Amino acid sequence: MLYENTEKQIKHGQTTKEPLLVTRPDLPPLEDFLPYLEKIWQRRWLTNSGQFHQELEARLADYLGVGYVSLFSNGTLALVSALQVLRISGEVITTPYSFVATTHALNWNGIQPVFCDVDPLTLNLDPSKVESLITPQTTAILPVHVYGNPADVEALEQLADVYGLKIIYDACHAFGVTYKGQSILNYGDLSVLSFHATKIFTTMEGGAIVTNDAKLKKRIDYIKNFGFADEVTVMAPGINGKMNEMQAALGVLQLEHMPRRITRRRALAGIYAKKLKNVHDVELLHRPDDVGHNWAYFPVFIAEEKRDIVYEVLKQHGIFTRRYFFPLISHFPIYRGLPSASPENLPVAERASRRVICLPFYPSLTDGDVEYICDTFISVLAHAAEPAMAHPEWI
Ligand SMILES: Cc1ncc(COP(=O)(O)O)c(C=O)c1O
Repeated sequence: MLYENTEKQIKHGQTTKEPLLVTRPDLPPLEDFLPYLEKIWQRRWLTNSGQFHQELEARLADYLGVGYVSLFSNGTLALVSALQVLRISGEVITTPYSFVATTHALNWNGIQPVFCDVDPLTLNLDPSKVESLITPQTTAILPVHVYGNPADVEALEQLADVYGLKIIYDACHAFGVTYKGQSILNYGDLSVLSFHATKIFTTMEGGAIVTNDAKLKKRIDYIKNFGFADEVTVMAPGINGKMNEMQAALGVLQLEHMPRRITRRRALAGIYAKKLKNVHDVELLHRPDDVGHNWAYFPVFIAEEKRDIVYEVLKQHGIFTRRYFFPLISHFPIYRGLPSASPENLPVAERASRRVICLPFYPSLTDGDVEYICDTFISVLAHAAEPAMAHPEWI
């Protein structure tokens, strides 16, 4: 591979030959986890709201500053269940600029997704375009806080109030994000989190629904446990969405490490921003001031015609970026036939999807790694229009 032994790696003091992946899960020291496993083995209570499960729900509610947390085995089942909990049907307005699970959750509920374009600055659902998509069949809006940047919660809420719609936020990127001093998860009817391995807070797989309504919390907990309200009463066609004790125990331990990890992410973002902010042709993600960011991702936006070349050539230097989100959800065969999926209706999302590239971003990156990534990225970008790119040994 070209990236092994390159001069640049040596020059930047990068001693490792490990590839730099777009993300790398944060895990606590293994020895710290062993006592948790011992407890699980002693108790023999493996799932169905065990002690670690209860502890994690309480600690997360406290850490996040929300009323109630219901844990799930993953974020997708949490999304599917959230729609069931609120009995959403008909049509739901959502964004194509997301991970495909956002729309799949609608599909699994027999709901018609209606794609709406995004705001050019935040890449979140554009409220000014939502209203014209509302029909008598519309029952809810499913926005995403993309890259942890809050959606325009005030404008969306106003629309929801006027038209009697529910709002379910896909907050899978927004763990720990605050807006105007309080958790972003406190907006809307329900918010859904993912604790997947690629997320800043991970239980390997995992997720949650967040609510401030005690009655809704009960209903969520029935739905995720086959619909059981008690031993003999099944009140809904529930699902098995339960998080197990191993995941929950890991979550409890992971929480202790979160403040340090966020601090490190912020510092790395600072290095990235300093190196890239004045580079011609590179646009950084807008990060509003009234937001407490979680620094989950580091997307940058470059010229459409260069993006895929840069993505491929960086790989040869051991830098594995991700075109997140490309393709748009509305491009997948299952959804592209929908009237709202037509590219003419979604120009902002289409353009962002062709320009975006997410750079490696995780707390165990060294400052030198980030410098190396930036220098290589800048160099590759500067040469990306040259015909020699087909044979990128020039770097
Ligand atoms: C925006 C978004 N929605 C939904 C999901 C699905 O979550 P999970 O992978 O936990 O099922 C993810 C992440 O994977 C995501 O990034």
